[in-house]
Amino acid sequence: MSNVDVLLGEKRTFYPSKEIVENSNVKQWMDAHDIPDIENLYQRSKDIEWFWGEVEKDLLTWYSPYDKVLDRSDAPFYHWFTKGKYNIVHDALDRHIGTPTEHKVAYIFESEQGNVTELTYRDVYNEVNRLANGLKRLGVGKGDRVALYMPMIPALPIAMLACARIGAVHSVVFSGFSSRALHDRIQDSGAKVLITADAFWRKGKVINLKVLADEAVKDSGIEHTICYQWAQYDVPMRKRDIWWHDLVADQPHECETEIMDSEDPLFILYTSGTTGKPKGVVHVHTYSVGLALTLKWVFDLKPGDVWWCSADIGWITGHSYIVYGPLMLGVTSVLYEGAPAHPEPNRLWEMIARHGITVFYTSPTSIRMHMRFGDEWAKKDDMSSLRLLGTVGEPINPEAWMWYYENIGKSRCPIMDTWWQTETGCFVISPLPIMSLKPGSATRPLPGFNAEVHDPEGRFVVNKGGSLVLTSPWPSMLRTLYNESERYAQHYWNKNGDFLTGDIARVDSDGYFWVQGRGDDVLNVSGHRIGNSEIESALVSHSSVSEAAVIGRPDDIKGESIAAFVVLRMGVESGDELRNTLRNHVGEEIGKIARPDIIYFVNDLPKTRSGKIMRRVVRSALISQEVGDISTLANPEAVKEIENVVKHNNYYS
Ligand code: WT7
Repeated sequence: MSNVDVLLGEKRTFYPSKEIVENSNVKQWMDAHDIPDIENLYQRSKDIEWFWGEVEKDLLTWYSPYDKVLDRSDAPFYHWFTKGKYNIVHDALDRHIGTPTEHKVAYIFESEQGNVTELTYRDVYNEVNRLANGLKRLGVGKGDRVALYMPMIPALPIAMLACARIGAVHSVVFSGFSSRALHDRIQDSGAKVLITADAFWRKGKVINLKVLADEAVKDSGIEHTICYQWAQYDVPMRKRDIWWHDLVADQPHECETEIMDSEDPLFILYTSGTTGKPKGVVHVHTYSVGLALTLKWVFDLKPGDVWWCSADIGWITGHSYIVYGPLMLGVTSVLYEGAPAHPEPNRLWEMIARHGITVFYTSPTSIRMHMRFGDEWAKKDDMSSLRLLGTVGEPINPEAWMWYYENIGKSRCPIMDTWWQTETGCFVISPLPIMSLKPGSATRPLPGFNAEVHDPEGRFVVNKGGSLVLTSPWPSMLRTLYNESERYAQHYWNKNGDFLTGDIARVDSDGYFWVQGRGDDVLNVSGHRIGNSEIESALVSHSSVSEAAVIGRPDDIKGESIAAFVVLRMGVESGDELRNTLRNHVGEEIGKIARPDIIYFVNDLPKTRSGKIMRRVVRSALISQEVGDISTLANPEAVKEIENVVKHNNYYS
């Protein structure tokens, strides 16, 4: 593959093999519904009520039927499958009991140290029930919030399912977040119980999770901490702490599933927005229909598949495509505790070979990191079991797409570039395996979803960048922001009833979407969303800092790296020591992923006359673009200073 071919960009097209098309789940559904071709499928599915009502029949099981597929009367608070009685855990576990799936492996778990354990659907069911009974004993019931701060071990999906089973709402906090971030999320959600683990392994090091959890629990509403013993690390247990194994020791393997309303909340997942305060995205039990459909159609999962989504369960990708989605389809998934290139760069590829993985889903950042290690590392292992590949989290550059296609998929496996968000719950813009692909494009909105690119006046545009909006509701959409319904209505919906994704995209002449990145003040670092203002708040909370502006700067591997411009308080001495202190401070306030890669000290930041820091101007000065009209600035000389420090101090820590 020459660079010229890669650079042909959207002209370069990959067509699916006849075998993939003929055997696909989506083709089977089309045949059963007399849908002759994919254009016809897109057309028919514009009637979203018909479409979701029809697909739901093959995917969900109800305690009692719903009356309406969609109730729009309370928009933008849409209600789906109204009055239906349902619980996602019934679909994920209960319905497999008594079928051949009961004794099938649900999770192949591999620890970072290389131990492999298998859990059948029956094993998961038993453990979920025991913990569900234990939670009830602690007084947890329907509607109560439970915070989860756990490593990537089977106890995490088990804990999530145990909460959902009894109607409690889980709030998983990524184990890489700091105590402070956990504390804030506990307080915001009003959780009374926290589930954590003693410690876990990451890059060969022990991370003492319980110690961090204890710090977070101080001055919070947590009444009990349940601690799962995993790394056998000696941890202090307080009076109200209880070991998971003690809690479940005498609990039976059966626990009745709570019958829920379609619209009852399943979980809260915090995600970064444009203000310092994270948004508590609320998803409901029937969000399940979106996961099951997309996993079945996009990744074409069938009973014999071994599926591996290498994301962390602390993010939406893991919630939807490690926990709920695969269990609903009754497939076998791989779950991995540790780091992707540990102890050697080929850890992922070795695992694909070891477990016979057929469908593999990862992030562009991970692909770019492996490209950097060199092609040799991707040649050591036999990856012939692979059938389909996928990516998520950020735009994938055509070069990385081609590398993945040739080196991992050996030019046999189509790549599903899935665009979606915490808010959407499931894939929205994504190929189906029966479609032609263009490297770098997530192709088109899936059947049942509608998206457009709008100019600032709200007009539909083609072949021009604009705001990506979703023009109809979908069943796995967020229902609200926890305790902030006003913010939900204001932030996400425009007056025409379009859902604002915050992304910038372009639609080409074939109707293919090219997502370019965030259009708002949100960073995407290695596929993780972090608000600029969150990092700024963390910086200014340090006693030496008076003001800060945080900018994302293009990065070959991570997509974006974090640059911070900091104005110090009077009399504070700048220098490398302070740079380190501030980086660590951000690590403690938010988590390691949010630490700035570079910190510049300046005397002033460009501001409007009303005193608002102009991040846009700082950004232009940093990445040597035209700064544009700065005549409205109160202090235009601040721009010169930024250009100067950037030129002279190219610090990277
Ligand atoms: C943002 C959502 C969805 C799970 C992981 C991140 C970016 C996501 C793609 C893609 C281009 C993508 C968008 C989106 N994004 N997938 N395939 N191509 N950009 O979830 O933290 O809610 O972030 O990730 O900017 O808005 P999230």
